[in-house]
Amino acid sequence: MAKASEYLCVALDRPSLEEALGLARQVGDRAGFLKVGLELFSAAGPTAVRELRALGPKVFLDLKLHDIPNTVAGAVRRATALGASLLTLHASGGAGMISAARKAAEDAAAKLSVERPRLLAVTVLTSLDASALSQTLGIESPAQELVLRLAKLAKDAGADGVVCSAREVAAVKKACGAGFLAVTPGIRPAGGQAGDQKRVTTPADAIRAGADLLVVGRPVTAAPDPAAAADGILESIEEGLA
Ligand code: C5P
Repeated sequence: MAKASEYLCVALDRPSLEEALGLARQVGDRAGFLKVGLELFSAAGPTAVRELRALGPKVFLDLKLHDIPNTVAGAVRRATALGASLLTLHASGGAGMISAARKAAEDAAAKLSVERPRLLAVTVLTSLDASALSQTLGIESPAQELVLRLAKLAKDAGADGVVCSAREVAAVKKACGAGFLAVTPGIRPAGGQAGDQKRVTTPADAIRAGADLLVVGRPVTAAPDPAAAADGILESIEEGLA
C-alpha cells in the first residue's frame, strides 16, 4: 500500500517565494506533491516551480488554464519544460482545448526526454454549491451531474483525471474508470474551518471515497504549526487507508 504522504499535496498559496519555500521546508517531507497555484505563480513565476522541485516533492502546477487551444498548448509546452508533474486546465474549455493540451504535453515531453505532466481537468470548483451554480450560471442540475458530464468530456479528449470534490469521486471512477485520476481539494479535518470551500470532506472520507490525491491548503498553511497540522492530516489519511 502506498504511504500516506503520497496522497497529500500541500497547496503553497503564499504571496512570496520566500514564504512558500519556508513552508515547503517544514512540510515537504510529509507530502508527495507541493502545489504552485495562481498566487505563488503570479508572485514568483517559473522560479517557484524550479526551486520547489529541487526540494524533492513533485510539483503540481495549478494554473487552471482556460483559453483557445493554441494558447493553452503553448502554456502546456512551457509547463512541461519546467518539470511540472501535474497541471490543471478547465474542462469547460472544451474537447478541442483539452486535446491540444494533451498533444502539446506529449510532443514537448518527447522532445525534451522528460516525463509528460498529467493533465487534470477542473470540473466544478469546490467553492460552488447548488445555489451558486443556479444563481451565477443558471445551472439547475446537481453539481454531480455537471461534474460527470465534464469528467467524461475531459477523459475522451485526453485528460488524465479531474479535480473534483471527494463527494463526487465514486461516481467519476464509475463513469471514467478506476485509472482516471480523481484529485480532491475541499479537504477539512473534522471540525475544521471551511473558509470559502462549500463541498468539503475529511481526509479519511476522501481516501475511503477513492481519491488519488488530496489537495490541502489552509488547514496546513494557516496552522500555527504547519508540520504538526500535516501530521494530523496524514493520520486521517492512514485511517482512511486502513
Ligand atoms: O486552503 P484550501 O485547502 O481551501 O485550498 C485548496 C486549494 O485547492 C487551493 O489552492 C485552490 O486553488 C485549489 N483548488 C480548489 N478547487 C478546485 C481546484 C483547485 O480549491 N476545483
